[in-house]
Amino acid sequence: MTKISLVGFGGIGIEAAKIIIQDPSLCCNLVCYDRKEAIDADPSPIAGAYEEMRDAIGIQESGHCIHLTSNLDDVADSDVIIVTAGLPRKQGQSRADLINDNAATIGPIAEKIGKIAPNVFLIMVTNPLDAMVELAYRKSGLPVHMVVGQAGVLDTGRLTMEAAHAAKSYASQTQSVVLGGHGPQMVPIYSHTYISGKPISDYVDQKELDAIEARVADRGATIIKKQGRSATFSTAMAAVKMVRSYILDQRKALPAAARLNGEYGVKDLFVGVITEISRKGVKVLEIPLSNEEKNKFNKSVEETRKIVAELK
Ligand code: LAC
Repeated sequence: MTKISLVGFGGIGIEAAKIIIQDPSLCCNLVCYDRKEAIDADPSPIAGAYEEMRDAIGIQESGHCIHLTSNLDDVADSDVIIVTAGLPRKQGQSRADLINDNAATIGPIAEKIGKIAPNVFLIMVTNPLDAMVELAYRKSGLPVHMVVGQAGVLDTGRLTMEAAHAAKSYASQTQSVVLGGHGPQMVPIYSHTYISGKPISDYVDQKELDAIEARVADRGATIIKKQGRSATFSTAMAAVKMVRSYILDQRKALPAAARLNGEYGVKDLFVGVITEISRKGVKVLEIPLSNEEKNKFNKSVEETRKIVAELK
């Protein structure tokens, strides 16, 4: 049976589990790991969420199995692991502010995953994303095509909705893509943003394009402000989309943080690009960019390099 593990069963992990257990195409053994203190707390919202999910599987009469554990050994030999462990961003914090705290959590976890799940497809979600995925790659020793960061699917979903709204259309008629680092430096690629087959520039002027860009970049902070905590459901939806493409060998073209080796003129850095995710792992796809997009992408790469360089 396919084994999917969630390392970090907080806000995003719980939402990811809910999405996975409702998806018959992802019928699996689902292992949910978190710290013992969090599971044994009284009351423990995460232990409660887990108990409810067990019941939900019963209602659904699906073949999913679910386990909650504080023993990281239980993720051994997973096919896919989504790592969301670490602190989420709070109001007033940048993603980069989390680097020291979250590196201390992610380093040992990644090292262990590399040892006990050597064939895993590892999807990192913890922020600052581009640095945490690099750290996980280094510490796990996993091959480069089996380590990827989730950010682009979320950012692209955000742009898709903004673009669809601006054109009074629907997400189902809209294609878009956001590349670059996951932070204020993300780059909406308007040359690949189409609504009902027409470029976004047919619908809105430059001023509105700039406003959309600012709203997309600020979306994470907007959500923190509105709900008092960072995005969980949408982030989980994005990570599970990547899981499906891998497990079901869908070979979807998905924006994700992959480690570049000369593509876009960049080497040895995880940064958001279009990738193909299949049972073979992640493969970088290079797409043509306008000159302005290239400049913005290069700036984003430099910003991302600075954040990654803070890793000790
Ligand atoms: C966001 C966080 C999850 O963009 O990075 O909402």
